[in-house]
Amino acid sequence: MTEALPVLLDVDTGGDDALALLLAMASPTLDVRGITCVAGNCALEQVVSNTLTLLDAIDAPPVPVAAGMDRPVLNPGLPAPALHGGDGMGDLGLPAPRRCRAGEHAVEFLRRTLSDADEPVTLICLAPLSNIAMLLRMYPRIGEKIERLYVMGGTYAAPGNTTPAGEFNVCHDPEAASIVLQSGLPVTLYPLDPFMQVRITEEEAKALTQSKGAGARIAGGIILHYCRFFGMAFSLIGDAGTVATVIDPEGATTVGKPVHVELSSGVTRGATVFDRRILTDGFAREGEWTEVDVVTKVDAPRYRKLMAVALGALEALDE
Ligand code: RIB
Ligand code: CA
Repeated sequence: MTEALPVLLDVDTGGDDALALLLAMASPTLDVRGITCVAGNCALEQVVSNTLTLLDAIDAPPVPVAAGMDRPVLNPGLPAPALHGGDGMGDLGLPAPRRCRAGEHAVEFLRRTLSDADEPVTLICLAPLSNIAMLLRMYPRIGEKIERLYVMGGTYAAPGNTTPAGEFNVCHDPEAASIVLQSGLPVTLYPLDPFMQVRITEEEAKALTQSKGAGARIAGGIILHYCRFFGMAFSLIGDAGTVATVIDPEGATTVGKPVHVELSSGVTRGATVFDRRILTDGFAREGEWTEVDVVTKVDAPRYRKLMAVALGALEALDE
């Protein structure tokens, strides 16, 4: 058996971040070294509480959870989106957390954990990139201990969600996204294009809520919350698709393309612009551009099954 991949997750839990954590914590192929929290889907303190609550609910091992940036690196962030519910995690009524957060700031936790690691570690970034940008700016050589960053953010050819041109994680902290995507470190970007592909139906979610496993019941409750909020008969595994790409990269189609993050004010602020032109020699290209690997589509049935196996609920997710 190959060694489990050492990973660190950066989250703004967040209903779909919770789905991602359920998948990551259940995967034998991932060695979760720690979880860092950042403001985004809800205020930082709520993100930390939700993350600790979730880990308690599935009786997870004592993985360190560190609190990080409570706002973007430069400008005010966006208001917390109502879609995640009053508590940011689908208002499931889970008990307050028993376990405690780490005593150090997330950026210090990341620096120490990466520096002490015997091998480079993979970062799975499922939130605004404020923590990661601060890490790269404060410790420029830390990139030597980062194997790859998998980043949920932006759009490739899909429309935005938070704005017509922008996706929430990037729009909440565009400067941070630009710092990370222009860093030159190996990046796999998981934009809204695949994010919108992997669905779970309302009926499947109801079946999940009747499962034996706490994780499956929580996942079902979160999906049902999103179905009801949007008045739709299905919802998405969301951030969990990014984790699925790490676990099972064969299920994702990627292409290498130069990307620019729009930082100007106005309607396109926070847009991720990809240079998809075939002929670029001799054509102007102002601004900062760096090639990243971008996931353009995924094998949705394959990732649904990965989720079902992780939740111990294969019977609930009909194929
Ligand atoms: O736009 C989707 C992203 O914004 C996801 O990470 C979701 O959790 C929210 O943070
Ligand atoms: Ca998120």
